[in-house]
Amino acid sequence: MSSHTITITDSGEEYRCKETQHLLAGMIQLGKKGIPVGCRGGDCGVCKVRILRGLYQSSKMSRDRVTEQEEKAGTVLACRVFPRSDIRLQVVDHLHKAITVADDGFLAPVNQEK
Ligand code: FES
Repeated sequence: MSSHTITITDSGEEYRCKETQHLLAGMIQLGKKGIPVGCRGGDCGVCKVRILRGLYQSSKMSRDRVTEQEEKAGTVLACRVFPRSDIRLQVVDHLHKAITVADDGFLAPVNQEK
């Protein structure tokens, strides 16, 4: 049975995932972190990631969580995707917002002069 290396670019975390496991299950099984974990069943949408490189097979995803346009652009739910090659991915929404929000709760301008 094949397994592939999954790289989470946000944290630099890497783990091996079998073709029969979805990306979230592979991460959890090895005690890794980086992709937010929620329902594990495609309902909550917190595990949304963007596949930057690699092949995968996905099972049906709720259109409330991933639009058809997003899916075509490589945005998927990690609990609905099975690797078919090594994969590089980026977490979208949830975690990314947490990282970019400043201490005062406001988004910091990108090129702020001091
Ligand atoms: S963990 Fe809830 S949709 Fe993936």
